[in-house]
Amino acid sequence: MTKELGSDKISVAFCCLGNICRSPMAEAVMRNAAGDMKLTHLISEIDSFGTSGFHAGDGPDRRTIQTCLSNGVPVNHVSRQVRLSDFDKFDYIFAMDRENLEDLKYMQPRGSKAKIMLFGAYSEDAKMDKIIKDPYYGGPDGFQSNFRQLDHFSRTFLKRLATGTA
Ligand code: 4NP
Repeated sequence: MTKELGSDKISVAFCCLGNICRSPMAEAVMRNAAGDMKLTHLISEIDSFGTSGFHAGDGPDRRTIQTCLSNGVPVNHVSRQVRLSDFDKFDYIFAMDRENLEDLKYMQPRGSKAKIMLFGAYSEDAKMDKIIKDPYYGGPDGFQSNFRQLDHFSRTFLKRLATGTA
């Protein structure tokens, strides 16, 4: 049977190292963009996790909270490490940088369903860095650039999802 274009809900997860800075921000930004674009019906679940469990049980970094709130985006998440079951739970797992991407690919059970990609693959701005750099040891500017990248990549992904070209 042919499926109607864009009729299937998909699930997405974001992955960074600690799951306190970039990936909880990504989750919040994607949820906000889907609401703005009236496309929440296309997504069943949005989650995030880290390749490490260094900060498991912690809330987002205060700089992630500040950056999200200053851009009008609520953020709420409890950090956890990636689990093997995540590779069959999510349709897409988006890595923030190349190290996250390589770690995820190394862990992925053979035959599991998740498509693992660098989130920056969803860019339509040649000048924008595709790598969402680790902001942990830097200043607030790093978090603000992370936010701008995540907003652009989220809107590009959602637009393509809506047109069946994700
Ligand atoms: P994230 O940032 O991967 O974007 O959550 C980091 C958070 C914590 C550490 C490194 C990066 N850490 O080394 O504790």
